[in-house]
Amino acid sequence: MEANYQKLFQDYTFKSGVNVRNRFMMAPMTTFSADENDYVSEDELNYYKERANGVGTIITACAYVSKGGKGFDGQMGIDHDGTIEGLSKLAKVIHEGGAKVVVQLYHGGRLAVPRLLPNGETVSASAVTPLGDRGFYSVEHTPRALTTEEVYEIIKEFGEATRRSIEAGFDGVELHGATGYLLQQFVSPHSNQRKDEFQNRYLFAIKLIDEVKRVISEHATKPFLIGYRFSPEEPETPGITMRETFELLDELMNANIDYIHMATTEAWAQPRRGIVSEKSRTEIIAEYINGRVPYIGVGNIHTPAEAALVLDKGKTDFVSLGRALVVDPHWVEKVKSNKEETIIHHLTENDQQKAVIPTPLWKLILEVQGWFPVVR
Ligand SMILES: Cc1cc2nc3c(=O)[nH]c(=O)nc-3n(C[C@H](O)[C@H](O)[C@H](O)COP(=O)(O)O)c2cc1C
Repeated sequence: MEANYQKLFQDYTFKSGVNVRNRFMMAPMTTFSADENDYVSEDELNYYKERANGVGTIITACAYVSKGGKGFDGQMGIDHDGTIEGLSKLAKVIHEGGAKVVVQLYHGGRLAVPRLLPNGETVSASAVTPLGDRGFYSVEHTPRALTTEEVYEIIKEFGEATRRSIEAGFDGVELHGATGYLLQQFVSPHSNQRKDEFQNRYLFAIKLIDEVKRVISEHATKPFLIGYRFSPEEPETPGITMRETFELLDELMNANIDYIHMATTEAWAQPRRGIVSEKSRTEIIAEYINGRVPYIGVGNIHTPAEAALVLDKGKTDFVSLGRALVVDPHWVEKVKSNKEETIIHHLTENDQQKAVIPTPLWKLILEVQGWFPVVR
């Protein structure tokens, strides 16, 4: 193995005591493949089993914590105790491969999909219609503003979802505070125009973390971690700029969580506004964090040299791989055993079985041009 890849294979113990065997994480990726009850399906078990032998940690597809927050066809739920059986199987197959497993907890807020919701009604911090084209999951629906009481109910739902994660045998939860979903809707000056205590745009995240920690201390019998995923910027004005991101990072670091995970499609993208710098967001954020909390970089990483660069130049502690691990489930093992040249970098239209990809995800991979590398 190349000398500069060694760092990627160092183990790490998080504050909570969870130990992972290396610095690779599988990025959370929705599979659209839960069964008709939104329980984990056999196909999903096979998909994760195939990918659990190399990475240190798998962060699962996002799971909705309440029915009013469902954001995808075939999204798995973690909203009631009936989900625990399937989730336990998921934790088990991943542990058998030697990886740790973190479930991503989700509420779509104004980006939940009305046709998937019990009463077709989306909710958010304020009644502000989402802007912009989000491709095949675009939602142009004005949400109803949550009452203060309802905000506290959702906080409890995240707590209950954490209890289920513990009972199912997971090693932690990641709060999905990125990509414009409910947590981000509270942080954003675009979507949060509240007049109650949650006009403090960071309070929702902080109260969620407090509740998750309370549940962990009450229920966990082994180390259990809490991570937070954020998107560094929003395109709209007013909206999240790098300045708000620094404020959020301060709050998250004060809350003493196990890791912070950036969400971006390109690790080396530069900031839009809120700071004057030639550097990438990955580097700027790493410099701001300055080693105070483990930081995960991500975005368009396809080779081990690119992963090593994100650790070295990007100064992150971990890298998460998304599409690379969908395309080649054995990417990490190949690097570890000096077979880098055998990594597969694209799919063909006949590769579904070989790559062990559930059909709903496979269909989207073929349909959405330019998303995955598919040679036709
Ligand atoms: C099929 C697919 C599903 C995704 N679902 C999620 C998700 O559930 N939660 C999330 O935070 N990010 C999700 N993402 C974003 C990825 O976690 C990752 O940030 C993005 O793909 C960039 O990494 P990559 O270039 O290595 O693929 C998804 C990406 C893909 C390709």
